[in-house]
Amino acid sequence: MNESNMFYGAHPVIFQKAEELRNKMTHSEELLWNYLNHNEWNLKFRRQHPISIYVADFYCHSLKLVIEIDGSIHALEEVKRNDIIRESNLKELGLNVLRFKNEDIINKLETVVKEINKKIKTLQNSPLGVGGKIKAFPCGTVANMVCGFDILGFALNEPCDEFEVEITDEPGVHIINNDEYNLPTDPEKNVSGAAMLALMEETPDVKGFIIRSTKIIKPGSGIGSSAASAAGVVVAANHLLHNRFTKEDLVRFAMFGEKVASGVKHADNIAPCIYGGVTLIRSIYPLDIISIEAPPLHVTVVHPQIEVRTSDARQILKQQVLLKDAIKQWGNIAGLVAGLLKSDYDLIGRSLEDVIIEPIRSILIPGFDEVKKRSKDAGALGGGISGSGPSIFMLSKDADTAKAVAKEMGDVFTKIGIDYHTHVTTINKEGVKVISE
Ligand code: HSE
Repeated sequence: MNESNMFYGAHPVIFQKAEELRNKMTHSEELLWNYLNHNEWNLKFRRQHPISIYVADFYCHSLKLVIEIDGSIHALEEVKRNDIIRESNLKELGLNVLRFKNEDIINKLETVVKEINKKIKTLQNSPLGVGGKIKAFPCGTVANMVCGFDILGFALNEPCDEFEVEITDEPGVHIINNDEYNLPTDPEKNVSGAAMLALMEETPDVKGFIIRSTKIIKPGSGIGSSAASAAGVVVAANHLLHNRFTKEDLVRFAMFGEKVASGVKHADNIAPCIYGGVTLIRSIYPLDIISIEAPPLHVTVVHPQIEVRTSDARQILKQQVLLKDAIKQWGNIAGLVAGLLKSDYDLIGRSLEDVIIEPIRSILIPGFDEVKKRSKDAGALGGGISGSGPSIFMLSKDADTAKAVAKEMGDVFTKIGIDYHTHVTTINKEGVKVISE
């Protein structure tokens, strides 16, 4: 507790005493700050944080946890009375308060840390208050990064959906659609609902969630609309649950949503949506997700306004591949990963080739070959079908090229007479953004 902020109306002797204690306090504060600032849960603590009329020594907003350090002055009767009022006021604000003696931090830091860890664990697993709300903004993703069918994907900085998730006493998952897509509200048939039901299997302390969904990413566009729905709600719920699940757990839950959308669990949209950046899904049973560093890349996506259902686009694929094609594909995947890690744009461009899936699926997208040719002529490194289509994406080294590519793509669809939307964006490195209300 900041000694100078707690004695409004106290006797001047107390101010003197407080001043004497300041140096000792600073030492214990430093010791504890050193621990809190590097805690194993990546929880953000603030130092000397104002709350109402008080200043907390340390404060963690996501756990609503205040940690106070008491100097020996707190043994004085008047100070004790002030402390009781202060603590009860803080509790009335819904805060959890932990207090430690100055000398305990200096002499028994290990015990203090153990007690803090215990409190953090309890708070992370404690039953949650009804009415806690959070907004999540999951963005579009490009799965099947050309040669990386089902295993390589990356996240876009736009477009993004908006989901508000709230804890409720009403058992189950309750879906409210705030958009025009008329998606099912039965949680078992809804992508967000199925993901949330999977999460709820592991949260017996929560009775229910309300999901308010505002979809911006059109379902069936090929830029990870279903992944955004599944990932957005589980990321939001996890924040309400004080981040008790790992990102890998969240991918596991969200894949139940993908199953509703396409009939199979795949993670090449969900993993990049949650982790951000480029991700490699080495395996889904068991989950093995690797984030791949990538150099700056500009992305152009064209979304012709036709529908290609992922389940149909999966059904037309051949179940066998020729060894010579497999060898080519392996070379390209390894080349693409190496190119990304080495920031070698030429290698990235050479490796953006798919000899297995694209020749079959591209038949479903009118104008595909021309879009690809004109984009490359305009300077794109390369690209292909985004997810299962109908969107097509291209990667470029700079923003001007990405814009020129968008124009070429648009011209092709104008010529064919199909409406389209384009997005010129970059790779989203942070994953789902969340804002607590
Ligand atoms: N890998 C998945 C598929 C992505 O192509 O079926 C779907 O967006």
